[in-house]
Amino acid sequence: MRKDLGVFPGVFPMPVLMIATYGEDGSVDVMNAAWGTACGMDKVALCIYGHETNKNIDRTKAFTVAIADAAHVAEADYFGIVSGGKVKDKFARTGLTATRSKWVNAPVIEEFPLTMECEYVETVNTEGVQCVVGRIVNVTAREEVLNDRGKVDAAKLDAILFDQFGRKYYKVGDEAGGAWKAGKKLM
Ligand SMILES: Cc1cc2nc3c(=O)[nH]c(=O)nc-3n(C[C@H](O)[C@H](O)[C@H](O)COP(=O)(O)O)c2cc1C
Repeated sequence: MRKDLGVFPGVFPMPVLMIATYGEDGSVDVMNAAWGTACGMDKVALCIYGHETNKNIDRTKAFTVAIADAAHVAEADYFGIVSGGKVKDKFARTGLTATRSKWVNAPVIEEFPLTMECEYVETVNTEGVQCVVGRIVNVTAREEVLNDRGKVDAAKLDAILFDQFGRKYYKVGDEAGGAWKAGKKLM
């Protein structure tokens, strides 16, 4: 038996993306965004609108996108419930560390394991939806999340996921199979 549940975005899991920008006074702002995805080999699209972050991107034409990890779940959530427009020392209150990206006019938050450094490309508007598209000009990662071939090891990221059904964060679980591999037995 199945049950109709009505209309809501039933996508699971959602990422926990940390969008970092510079404010007008050079202060660091970070917001939490679940409505974001890769949309090309060198592009991300973020459905973010009406935030201090949007104003910052309009001005600086740049932002960084980091993957939040389990060690920083409190900071990640805080970045989603406090606005840099209202709380001027929003970032400073977390005690996290920001350094200027070598590639774009945006900060890199050192504690997050993996960060995409993006230049603003365009804002796509459709019915009730506004998506900020960025071009990834570099990815920077903490060395401890790399394997011995220098590639990102997803298990080492210790990333968190957003559950919009229960409004909770989960840690990424175990591997279930190889992509482009597990289905081969059915071919
Ligand atoms: C789990 C979570 C996910 C969120 N995802 C989004 C999102 O995808 N798009 C968006 O516009 N706001 C999202 N928000 C809300 C912003 O993060 C929040 O309004 C934040 O305070 C904006 O910060 P700013 O004003 O400093 O830019 C999310 C908040 C939480 C807690």
